[in-house]
Amino acid sequence: MKVAIDGIVQEAKPKEFLVDLITRTGGSVPHVCYHPQLGPVQTCDTCMVEVNGQLVRACATQITDGMAISTKSAKAEAAQVEAFDRILSNHMLYCTVCDNNNGNCVVHNTTKLLAIEHQRIPFRTKPYEVDNTNPFYRYDPDQCILCGRCVEACQNVEVNETLSINWEDPNPRVLWDGGSTIGESSCVSCGHCVTVCPCNALMEKSMLGHAGFLTSLKKSALSGMIEVVKGVEPETGYGSILQISEAEHAMREHRIRKTKTVCTYCGVGCSFDVWTKDRHILKIAPEHGPANGISTCVKGKFGWGHINSEDRLTTPLIREDDKFRQASWEEAIALVARRLSEIKKKDGADSLAFISSSKCTNEESYLLQKVARAVIGTNNVDNCSRYCQAPATTGLFRTVGYGGDSGSISDMEKADLVIIIGSNTAESHPVIATRVKSSHKLDGQKLIVSDLRENEMARRADLFLHPKPGTDLIWLSAVSRYLLDNGLAHSKFLDQWVNGLDEYRESLRPYTLEAAERLTGLSERSIRTVAHMIADAKATCILWAMGVTQQSQGSDTSTAISNLLLITGNYMRPGTGAYPLRGHNNVQGASDHGSMPNMLTGYQSVDDPEVRQRFETGWRVKLPSTKGLDNHQMVEAIHEGKLKAMYVIGEEMSIVDSNANYVEAAFEKLEFFVVQDIFFSHTCRYADVVLPGAPSLEKEGTFTSTERRIQRLYEVLEPLDGCRPDWKIIQDVANQMGAGWQYHHPSEIMDEIASLTPMFAGVNYERLAGYKSLQWPVAADGTDEPLHYTKRFAFPDGKARLFPVSWIGPTDQPNAGFDLHLNNGRLLEHFHEGNLTYRTEGIREKTPDVFVEVSPELAEERGIQSGTWVQLISRYGKVRVRALVTDRVQGKELYMPMNSVESPVNRLTSSHTDVVTNTPAYKEASVHMKVLAEVGESPLPRINPRFGHPTPQNGVEVERKWKRADYAPPGNGNGLVQLQTKK
Ligand code: SF4
Ligand code: SF4
Ligand code: SF4
Ligand code: FES
Repeated sequence: MKVAIDGIVQEAKPKEFLVDLITRTGGSVPHVCYHPQLGPVQTCDTCMVEVNGQLVRACATQITDGMAISTKSAKAEAAQVEAFDRILSNHMLYCTVCDNNNGNCVVHNTTKLLAIEHQRIPFRTKPYEVDNTNPFYRYDPDQCILCGRCVEACQNVEVNETLSINWEDPNPRVLWDGGSTIGESSCVSCGHCVTVCPCNALMEKSMLGHAGFLTSLKKSALSGMIEVVKGVEPETGYGSILQISEAEHAMREHRIRKTKTVCTYCGVGCSFDVWTKDRHILKIAPEHGPANGISTCVKGKFGWGHINSEDRLTTPLIREDDKFRQASWEEAIALVARRLSEIKKKDGADSLAFISSSKCTNEESYLLQKVARAVIGTNNVDNCSRYCQAPATTGLFRTVGYGGDSGSISDMEKADLVIIIGSNTAESHPVIATRVKSSHKLDGQKLIVSDLRENEMARRADLFLHPKPGTDLIWLSAVSRYLLDNGLAHSKFLDQWVNGLDEYRESLRPYTLEAAERLTGLSERSIRTVAHMIADAKATCILWAMGVTQQSQGSDTSTAISNLLLITGNYMRPGTGAYPLRGHNNVQGASDHGSMPNMLTGYQSVDDPEVRQRFETGWRVKLPSTKGLDNHQMVEAIHEGKLKAMYVIGEEMSIVDSNANYVEAAFEKLEFFVVQDIFFSHTCRYADVVLPGAPSLEKEGTFTSTERRIQRLYEVLEPLDGCRPDWKIIQDVANQMGAGWQYHHPSEIMDEIASLTPMFAGVNYERLAGYKSLQWPVAADGTDEPLHYTKRFAFPDGKARLFPVSWIGPTDQPNAGFDLHLNNGRLLEHFHEGNLTYRTEGIREKTPDVFVEVSPELAEERGIQSGTWVQLISRYGKVRVRALVTDRVQGKELYMPMNSVESPVNRLTSSHTDVVTNTPAYKEASVHMKVLAEVGESPLPRINPRFGHPTPQNGVEVERKWKRADYAPPGNGNGLVQLQTKK
């Protein structure tokens, strides 16, 4: 389409908003409330332009062919200035002494763009106090221009639905839960609102008093300076005042660094700029991340207290007579190399084992498995995907060929139907949850959730299934059978793309609706409803996580999920597919890069001679050919006296592995144990040598997120004195043992990986520069694959395979002695045991401790209230913990999050595992609960967001502003036309 902007003809894209076209083609139009990732908010009216002689909002008007647009007509300019004048009546311009004077303040920049010299409408304060009650950010009503961006972000992007504006009030302001303080509201501190606020009304507390040269002055001094500035404004106008503030901003540019990184917590793969001044983290600024845009959760936005924590390890430690003493790097590395070599010589290479970290980079994982294989000569190497993701990978290997998510987060957004099984997505993968919540709220996406707990996604779901523990495989198979029996399967897709239908159909025989109802406790009706919802949907995605995988049939249930997707044709198209949600930031990458006992990089088998030959040539060594031990087998092998030495990087294995008491007992038996970490973790207690590594902000490398997205992280801060990036430590150890490696930068390691791994052939740092990313497989020319299987499945004949499975039943079932089922998992605020997140004070304040969720009915039966201390006793151990009474759980099902080092839930879990992958069956635990006499405070304080009361509405509801008696569109009388309203 062609349109004319200020007389110049421009090419427009279909459905493009005028504001985007004008800026894309080099023009400018003021716009304050518009943000490309929020869409039209339409509250500020500063974007008025003339179209074919009539005033319209450029942010809400889509192009039509032949439009004549004037951004600078007298009518348009008068309306723009009038609208902005109204904004300034809500905001005091004191840029020079404002922490938001960083070149990106929309109010400052618009004042300049419109060359405003004087305000017509004077600034009016609002009758409200500044709200400082959230630990991470504050709201200043006097500076709030009521643009509503924050409300839009909270309601429709994050979909936490905390914020609104009371448009009908004489003095509107932003409200939390309709009028609570921020601290006592449902706000989950995700930071979306702060990120999009166009001025200083919402600010990160870490910025306040730190960003500017003059902003750390006392409030009284600041107020005096503001008064002086205001005093000269009538004479000098804003132009010269802004020049001073711009000089101050230019000075800031020299001391504030903005460095891109990738989040260190979950597998969503959020990326953002980190603003720092020396070692002080000013703020996290998400904007360009391909997975997250403006989105983060509380951990990514504010959970960085661990970086400058006082108790970071800064020197190697060596055990001596049951105590640790500080040592030099030279001594520690020499000791590690000597002891590993001695044990290898004495007991053979397979008496050593290595565990890589899913918090470390791809390059670091690659190097650790290279040490194991090429330097020591063993395949005993694994990573924590064994604890969570291996079963999902197996289910996908069996059926479709690749062991990763079949598409991207954007596919989850596009789906007509999303099914979530065994995943507390809103807490474990918060930014993915925002995309599903938003599509469900705004675009008619349907949602089915199967879980033991009525978590947030379950509460939002169109259909919530609560099957008996460990029975997902049954209802999934019953749905498949019902679809096939009733002609609702996708027969064309099956004919063209899928092998093994007859055998699969036969395997489904036992899964009638009657049997499924009896075994799962779900009604036949709900199982039929699931089947029809899938059959009716054009595109279905299934998301699953540890509620499925951490069961003794985790691999089989994952397989059943993929089978169901295959018979309904839900692969190969946008909006479809299988999404096992990866837990850690780089758990996908740790496996991808060969930290597995049976696979080298890119899932190349160690027993394939051609593969070994390639690596042997590349590494110039002879490689072991038999599969090594996985994490679980390593613990067993220590107890059996076969494994003598271990090297663990960045894993709190002593309490995150199942049956923690048994794991600790194993560690005590090791002859030599090296732990590399950034804190003296619980696992370090068992070490002989502790090596201080570096956290993600202190190194370069790449992470691979759940959607197989490889992204670069840059060094935000130099490693703390005494620490070293983990890749350097691994290289030092290898070289001390004679490896002769010479990597000077992680990019060289990635080049080597690409040269040996067809799946990563085209990966290099140039192609990943800045916010660029690649989703594997990556061909040599750099072509990647955001959506798998668009042309074929990853098997030699290009066809998928239905893989029959049958239900056996869970282990560790409740009985008379252990009468309660114990479920466990993550919390939004803390990452796993909390080694990193407890070091952020605000997170600790809001969520200080672990607890066990008890249903109201069980609480009544046992005389328990929130705060009652109980002892949970399983067949394997016991913990003392406070109860939290909540209807998120039902009947005799308990839930205990993992956020504790002192009372870890894994003292209660067993050594049973998934029969295929040895992933611990963490979710199969039963306990006896002893109620103790002591009653304490509720383990969750009142300021925890779970006690808030959200106020859902569709965005900022600007129509209510327009209905105010004192509202008239700027340029009124000049004929504002509301061409479009937002969806
Ligand atoms: S949940 Fe809280 S931090 Fe997140 S957007 Fe809403 S008000 Fe802001
Ligand atoms: S607090 Fe919200 S409404 Fe106020 S200026 Fe910031 S984004 Fe706009
Ligand atoms: S923890 Fe996950 S969702 Fe939260 S910011 Fe980090 S990557 Fe994003
Ligand atoms: S940018 Fe605010 S109304 Fe258009």
